[in-house]
Amino acid sequence: MVDELFNANKSYTAFHYLTISLAMTQPITILNAACHTNPYPYYASLREGPALAFNAELKCWIASRAAVVKEVLESAACAVRPITEPVPRNIAGGSAGEIFSHLVRMNEGKAHAVPKQVIQSSLSKLDLSGIAAHTQQHATRLTSKYDVRTGNGLTQYLFNLPVHVMGSVLGFQENALPALANWMSDFVRCLSPLSTAEQIDAAHIAAKALQNSFRHLLQDSQAKPDGFLAGLQSEATQLGWHHADGILPNLIGLLSQTYEATAGLAGNSLTALHAHPDILKIMRDGGADLPQKLSQLVTEIARYDAPVQNTRRFVIQDCEIAGQKLQTGDVIVVLLAAANRDAATNPDPDTLQLDRPDRKVFTFGYGRHACPGQHIAEQIAGICLHHLLSMPAFDFATLHWTYRPSLNGRIPIFTQPLHNKETP
Ligand code: HEM
Repeated sequence: MVDELFNANKSYTAFHYLTISLAMTQPITILNAACHTNPYPYYASLREGPALAFNAELKCWIASRAAVVKEVLESAACAVRPITEPVPRNIAGGSAGEIFSHLVRMNEGKAHAVPKQVIQSSLSKLDLSGIAAHTQQHATRLTSKYDVRTGNGLTQYLFNLPVHVMGSVLGFQENALPALANWMSDFVRCLSPLSTAEQIDAAHIAAKALQNSFRHLLQDSQAKPDGFLAGLQSEATQLGWHHADGILPNLIGLLSQTYEATAGLAGNSLTALHAHPDILKIMRDGGADLPQKLSQLVTEIARYDAPVQNTRRFVIQDCEIAGQKLQTGDVIVVLLAAANRDAATNPDPDTLQLDRPDRKVFTFGYGRHACPGQHIAEQIAGICLHHLLSMPAFDFATLHWTYRPSLNGRIPIFTQPLHNKETP
C-alpha cells in the first residue's frame, strides 16, 4: 500500500506544500521528492548531512543513510502509528477506518505479530510459477482490453494487472475483478492526506463493498479446501488469530498493498528501459534468458527507482537513534529510496546494474514490518514487462509520463499517446 507521510491533522500543511511544489519544479522538498523528475541528488545531499536531520518547518526528523534507516525500522521505540491516533482522524468512524484499524501494516505488538506470521507464512507457500501463470493470463486479457500503445491504456494495464492477479490468487472469479480493481482504486485514496472530502466518501463506499465481497469470498472458501484462503484460515486457527481480530480487513490489505506499488514497480522499470537503450537491447536480445534478465531488472529497479520512496515512524517512547535523542511524539520520515543509493551499502549506487552483487534493497521495508509480498510483486512486474516486450507494436522510445501526486509513492502515469492510433 502506498501510504502517506503525515497524519490527518497535518494534511493541510502537506497538501499546501505539495500543491506549491508541484506547481514549481524547484525547490525540491521532502514533500515533492517522491514524484520529482530526479530526487536522487537531493537524497544524496541529505545523506551527507546529519544522521537524523530535523526539518523545522515540517517538524519531523529525516533518516536517509542506510545504517540509520535500519536503526529506525528496527527500533521498538518507533511505531507505525502515533499512540494518540491509531487511525487517521479523517477516516476514523467509517468503513475505511474500520479496515485500517486492523491492518498488520498499521499495528504493533500482538495485533501485529500473529497476523504477520500467518500472512507471511501463507504468502510464502504460494507457488511463484502459479503467480506467473495468473499474470500471463491476465496480461493477455488486459492488453486486449486496453490499448497499451496509448498513455492511458498503458496506465490502466499497469494498475489493473497486479490487483487482478492477486484477486485471482485470493479466489475471486474473473467477472468480479474489474469491480474489485475499481473499489481498490477508490479505497487507497483515503490513505493520502491529499484526498478531498469526495474521495474520502468514495473510499468509505468502496471499503463497504470490499468488506461485502470478501465476506462472500470467505464463506465460499470452505468449498475450496486447497485454496489460498482455506490455507490461511487454517494457519490462523492454529496460531490463535480469530476472525474478530481482523482476518477479513487484512485480506483486503493484501490487495491494497499490491495495488499501486506493484504498478509503480512495473512503471518505473518501463521508464528505466526508456532511459537505458543498452539495457532495453539486453532485454530484447534476452531469448531464453529473458525471464531471468527481467527478474534481475525488476529487483534492481526496486533499488534504483523505488515505487515506495519513504515510510514513516512515530516515536512512542523517548529514545536515542544514531546518537540523536528523540522524544515521544516525534515523527521520522524514513527515506527508503535514499538508503537504496547509499554507497556504504550499494557501491556505485547511481548506476543501474543488472547483476549487482550483494544488492541491498530497502524499498520493501526492513525489520518487523518488512513486506511479505516482495517476491510476488517482483514476479508480477517481471511478467508484465515480458508481455510488453513481446508486443512488436509497443515502442519504449515513445513513452511519456508524469508521476501521480503522492507524498511517498513514485508511480508513473503515462500521459501521451505512445503511438498514433490511426496508423497502427
Ligand atoms: C512493488 C510492490 C511493493 C512494495 C514496494 C511494497 C513495499 C512495502 C513496504 C515498504 C512495507 C513496509 C512499510 C513500513 O515498514 O513502514 C510493506 C509492508 C507490507 N506489504 Fe508490501 N510492498 C509491495 C507489494 C506487496 C504485495 C504484492 C503484498 C501482498 C501480496 C504486500 C504485502 C505487504 C504487507 C502485508 C505489509 C505489512 C507487513 C507488516 O507490517 O508487518 N506488499 N510493503
